[in-house]
Amino acid sequence: MKYKPKKKAASIDDPTGSANAGALDIKPGQSIELLKQLHILTRDGKLNLDSRRKLKQVYHLYHFIEPLLQQVLAQKQHVQLVDHGAGKSYLGFILYDLFFKAAQTVAAAESGVPGAANGAGAATGHVEGHVAGHVYGIETRAELVQKSQELASRLGFDGMSFLNLSVAESMTHQALPTQVDVVTALHACNTATDDAIAFALKKQAQFMVLVPCCQAEVACVLRKNKGKALCNPLTEIWRHPLHTREFGSQVTNVLRCLQLEAHGYQVNVTELVGWEHSMKNELIIASYNGKPNKRAAARLQEVLATLGLEEMGDRFFVPAELA
Ligand SMILES: C[S@@+](CC[C@H](N)C(=O)[O-])C[C@H]1O[C@@H](n2cnc3c(N)ncnc32)[C@H](O)[C@@H]1O
Repeated sequence: MKYKPKKKAASIDDPTGSANAGALDIKPGQSIELLKQLHILTRDGKLNLDSRRKLKQVYHLYHFIEPLLQQVLAQKQHVQLVDHGAGKSYLGFILYDLFFKAAQTVAAAESGVPGAANGAGAATGHVEGHVAGHVYGIETRAELVQKSQELASRLGFDGMSFLNLSVAESMTHQALPTQVDVVTALHACNTATDDAIAFALKKQAQFMVLVPCCQAEVACVLRKNKGKALCNPLTEIWRHPLHTREFGSQVTNVLRCLQLEAHGYQVNVTELVGWEHSMKNELIIASYNGKPNKRAAARLQEVLATLGLEEMGDRFFVPAELA
């Protein structure tokens, strides 16, 4: 089975009929009902302006994630994706609707299941026994998990599961597979992104797609140890409280990247969308290349030591053989 997505999306300019709403890409086969249920479209099909920012982020992410899903699908014909800090699961639902549902329908059509391509199964995207993958949403807020479960069930998105767990708890939870292919975390709060990285390392994920939120832990340790390290002129970089926060956030992502490289991932760091759409806009994409990077591991330890962050060695752990 080879899934070939239609490259060209149908673009409906201003589906809302409102000049202010701008253009929204509706992809072929995309569920309008889903967009309404996610409050991206209003009941009468107009674009909800409040949701526009989130939709823009999620669409941008989709463009980065879709080729990765294709790569996994080409190798394994089945993709396991875990989205951490899922919230209302905008990302999971859009990914499922645009990719997994389509892949299921194509798989079913190719397998010759009667009615699969044109029948009820194709209409909902669900064809019994022909799931090309699974999307798991991990979220600590029970009410959001329940709402997502209800929505998935209403839309017949049977290849989606939502678990009321913290990222840390999900590491050992039996409802999740021992190996997953893709891990995503879009604005997962504070250290949840670090936990998502630890999860992905444990589950040997081929790809990670991370858009970190603010992380306060590193800034807190920098603040605590300020007095100790003041003889180093570089500590001027984080002397003022605002700089401590911003520098702490920057260093956190630098440490994450070194950690990923140390574990054998190639890392790309870029912007998700324009800064006018989100202040938390750094996109980290990690692809496993099987080459644990000794230099990155050494650099990570050096950065921790230089900044007085040695106590964070457990958070930004490297492979035992490189420690
Ligand atoms: C800023 S929201 C982002 C939601 C969603 N990813 C999005 O971009 O729309 C962060 C979500 O992560 C959840 N969260 C925070 N810490 C978490 C943790 N340790 N484990 C799982 N979920 C967590 C919060 O409840 C919240 O729903």
